[in-house]
Amino acid sequence: MLKDIPCGEVTEDHVGSSITLAGWVHRRRLHGGVVFIDLRDRSGLVQLVFNPDTPNAYQVAEQVRTEWVVQVKGLVRRRPEGSENPALSTGAVEVAVDEAVVLNQSLTPPFYINEESDVDESLRLKYRYLDLRRPTMQANIQLRHKVVKYIRDFLDTKGFLEIETPILIKSTPEGARDYLVPSRLQAGEFYALPQSPQQLKQLLMVAGMERYFQIARCFRDEDLRADRQPEFTQLDLEMSFVDEEDVLSLTEELYLTMMRTLVPGRNVPGPMPRITYDEAMARYASDKPDLRFGLEMSDVSDLAAQTDFNVFRAVLNSGGIVKGFAVPGGGSYSNSALRELEDFVKERGARGLAHVRLGTEHSLDDLTESDVRMASGLNMHPQWAAQLARQMGAEPGDLMLLMAGAPHAIHAALSALREEMGHRLGLADPNTLAFAFVVDFPLFEWDAEEERWNSSHHPFTAPDDDQIHLLDGNDLGSIKSKAYDLVCNGSELASGSIRIHRRELQEKVLRLLGYEDSDIQERFGHLLEAFDYGAPPHGGIAPGIDRLVAILAHAGSIRDVIAFPKTQRGTDLLFGSPSPVSDAQLRELHLRVVE
Ligand code: AMO
Repeated sequence: MLKDIPCGEVTEDHVGSSITLAGWVHRRRLHGGVVFIDLRDRSGLVQLVFNPDTPNAYQVAEQVRTEWVVQVKGLVRRRPEGSENPALSTGAVEVAVDEAVVLNQSLTPPFYINEESDVDESLRLKYRYLDLRRPTMQANIQLRHKVVKYIRDFLDTKGFLEIETPILIKSTPEGARDYLVPSRLQAGEFYALPQSPQQLKQLLMVAGMERYFQIARCFRDEDLRADRQPEFTQLDLEMSFVDEEDVLSLTEELYLTMMRTLVPGRNVPGPMPRITYDEAMARYASDKPDLRFGLEMSDVSDLAAQTDFNVFRAVLNSGGIVKGFAVPGGGSYSNSALRELEDFVKERGARGLAHVRLGTEHSLDDLTESDVRMASGLNMHPQWAAQLARQMGAEPGDLMLLMAGAPHAIHAALSALREEMGHRLGLADPNTLAFAFVVDFPLFEWDAEEERWNSSHHPFTAPDDDQIHLLDGNDLGSIKSKAYDLVCNGSELASGSIRIHRRELQEKVLRLLGYEDSDIQERFGHLLEAFDYGAPPHGGIAPGIDRLVAILAHAGSIRDVIAFPKTQRGTDLLFGSPSPVSDAQLRELHLRVVE
């Protein structure tokens, strides 16, 4: 090795010994004729001191610039009193260098590596190898390693086998578009990259593996957001002879013990609550509620029906609802603050936002006209406002925010507003990880645009046993499934379900999803045939690794916990992909690019 120990591990134990170190010049400064260099490697920083009385080393120190790579040899000594740096693991010591060699030079980096400055993300991604040198990125990547290692060790003790599954495969739908790979040997035919190893893990259960997991790369050609990448990583797992609670309790144990081990300072309330989908939508207008705070929803359609407010009447007459939540202390919000909140929800698809502000002068029983300020058009008696407040859990001094519309139309904006207010009021404690399982998802959801039923989860999810008969009826939207999600702080971290393991039921569900019999045979024949050979009851879950690490690392985007991520437009700025290929390659693949 070109170094004896990592830079970040030089401690008082080494005082008096001569050691060799190697790394990058993080920072360099001249002070009273002495050159100080912070030398950096993966483990951290250590302070080097170069005195003019060791001229060879001193010359090197004068010549080097930030990010040059150097090797030094010197004596570890205690820092002079008063110059210790408690923020550094090596802050009590320094190395007095007597030999120094430049191992490589560096151009001036396009952005600071030694400062947490706001760098344009496209520049960071183009020079990702430099971006990854920055201490936060180093910490994120190290954390990711620890998460994956913890998962592997944990599942090993629980009798799971890690099994790899193919990347070149046939479409395994999860609701996104496939990435396709043209075949050279079979002209005009394509592989699809797996959107998840879903069918493969089910086949492994038919194959008698009983407990499988994989740190699996998944590929989905979908619109990207901060928490979505076109290729991402799941902890994919599947178990035979289990019911829902078996999968949930294993997942819960994995997460709770992992948090205690890897982020012991975080507040992780346990046991993890199980909330039904219906309850989550009713109370939080979201199937991935942030449970760090209340701000719970109330359906106040009955009280809204007593008003002459046009917006409420129109919505209620067409079968919609009026729903909202109380904001503690929001009674003093100005008109312009309320207009800003209205703009916020309009950007998220809402038609508008009504409000009732309560003063602090009187109790709810004695509210007067002057205590209540309402959205214009909502001219109700103070007693109505008091009733509304009781129903919504509001107190004098609070604000009540109300939205009217069809539930599916207002839930997204209401939940975004709830989260926004939770953050503004400082209720979303960044140190808390509020995990919960959302269970009993509907089996199907209606796609109004395409006028057809889609799977809420995926087509392999089993309906509740006592609801299978409803598959023959015409109220498909009411059927509950054995699907569940793990959510944390307003994010969906994992999804899973108990699967269908019998051919007839699987065929029936696929038909209800609009697949023709020929299609079913062509796309899912291999799975259905496997079910004919003694498929055991099975189920599993797939936690997204990127989202988990991002939450643990307090990262704003999963791009910050992936070594080489793609941009929002799906491009890799470092390699410059996607990119055109040669005509010869296209010919070999039997492809022609049509302008
Ligand atoms: P699902 O599609 O819900 O389920 O995905 C499971 C988890 O994977 C993560 N995830 C993503 N992370 C980053 N970028 C993306 N584009 C992306 N898409 C999904 C999320 C999500 O909760 N086969 C089923 C699982 C099962 O039933 O066992 C599946 O893939 O954290």
